[in-house]
Amino acid sequence: MTDSSEATVEFGAAQARLAYAQGLAKAIEQNTGIKTEAQSYANAAALKRDDVDFAIIDGVCYASNLTGRLLATPLRHPLKPRRPVTSRTPSLQLEGVTLHNLAGLDVRIPLGRLVVVTGVSGSGKSTLARDVLYTNLRRFLAGGGPLTGLRGLRGVQPLSRVLEVDQTPIGRTPRSCPATYVGFWDDIRRVYAGSDEARIRGYSASRFSFNTAGGRCTDCEGQGQRTIEMSFLPDVKVLCDRCGGRRFDQQTLEVHWRGRSAAEVLAMNVEEALEFFAAHARVRRPLTLLRDVGLGYLTLGQPSPTLSGGEAQRIKLVTELARLAALKPGRATVAHTLYVLDEPTVGLHMADVERLAGVLQRLVDAGNTVVMVEHNLDLMAQADWIIDLGPEAGARGGRIVAAGSPAQIAARHGRSHTGAALAPFLRERAD
Ligand SMILES: Nc1ncnc2c1ncn2[C@@H]1O[C@H](COP(=O)(O)OP(=O)(O)OP(=O)(O)O)[C@@H](O)[C@H]1O
Ligand SMILES: [Mg+2]
Ligand SMILES: [Zn+2]
Repeated sequence: MTDSSEATVEFGAAQARLAYAQGLAKAIEQNTGIKTEAQSYANAAALKRDDVDFAIIDGVCYASNLTGRLLATPLRHPLKPRRPVTSRTPSLQLEGVTLHNLAGLDVRIPLGRLVVVTGVSGSGKSTLARDVLYTNLRRFLAGGGPLTGLRGLRGVQPLSRVLEVDQTPIGRTPRSCPATYVGFWDDIRRVYAGSDEARIRGYSASRFSFNTAGGRCTDCEGQGQRTIEMSFLPDVKVLCDRCGGRRFDQQTLEVHWRGRSAAEVLAMNVEEALEFFAAHARVRRPLTLLRDVGLGYLTLGQPSPTLSGGEAQRIKLVTELARLAALKPGRATVAHTLYVLDEPTVGLHMADVERLAGVLQRLVDAGNTVVMVEHNLDLMAQADWIIDLGPEAGARGGRIVAAGSPAQIAARHGRSHTGAALAPFLRERAD
């Protein structure tokens, strides 16, 4: 991941140098409590101008890229006031959980909270979160069936949906892309159908779909590419020579809105599309969410199989946020979803962890429950409630070592490996 705004500050300009120096001064003050003069860092900017990656100020080395900024000013916790859990907080109760190394556990999961399951590798986290919680909830909410891996499940009533958000692709075909998966391509199609050119030709919104015939390229059927099967070798994808990757037929491409064809919109990235559709709230809203989670650089039409695991996961979360935003405010019953995530920070940069935490907090703020397996201390520190499994792996684990707020887990540093790691971390990072 890159944050170009941070990484490519133009140091030729005196103004940018000063802004950079002021940023450093602030970082230094936040970390050391030492107040410094911004001007005195002209030297640091000069170092950067000579393509040196680090700035050395008063003997302290500061990296001048995004990683460095985050190391210098790490996330403070919690980002939001913690949601309290009391004995009266509505909760799911898993009774007699017995599967793999879990032997007869009773587990309480407070609802409407950000819940993190912790413990050393092999302690039983995935078994609890996915094999027991997710599997049984899904079956239960789909109409019932036998419980597997536990004796009893109580407190399900407030839940109407359970969803696992993982890093698997958002769709298998190249026709699936961020715009179609999140759903705003439907709104863009309506914008195009409303253009003068479309109205004169009598094109409806379906003309601008590449998922159905009647507007898309007939050779590649809207994929923009063709698959060549190779015997004994993996298939090879080549650009469609009829449409050149544009996905639509010639007549559809002749329709323009604000001077751009539908194919040109698919080639825009999120930032560009935000500007282009600034006047269209229904398109702008999901685009803003994509930018908020750090995906402003993604192209609207990027084929799903080419997205990274972390990108796919955040697109799924954005789709959930977009769904919430589309709900009519003041509706009596808002569907309560329980989201299950197993180590969502795998492969994420520190900046992305911060964005992920922000999205999860928003989902919980909207009245949902998040149950997440995590080793990442930044995310643990965001939790309202931690369930710490262990104490060790395999047969020497599988029990609840401690359950409570991050501070309560940290207080158990003598017994819990998680507590031992969390205690100094919270001391350093608590606001
Ligand atoms: N299908 C299975 N059959 C038998 N044992 C299993 C099975 N799946 C997991 N286990 C065992 O159960 C224990 C808990 O596994 P689990 O995958 O829940 O650990 P975890 O806490 O998620 O670890 P990690 O952090 O490495 O993902 C391990 O000792 C594992 O070997
Ligand atoms: Mg696991
Ligand atoms: Zn084509």
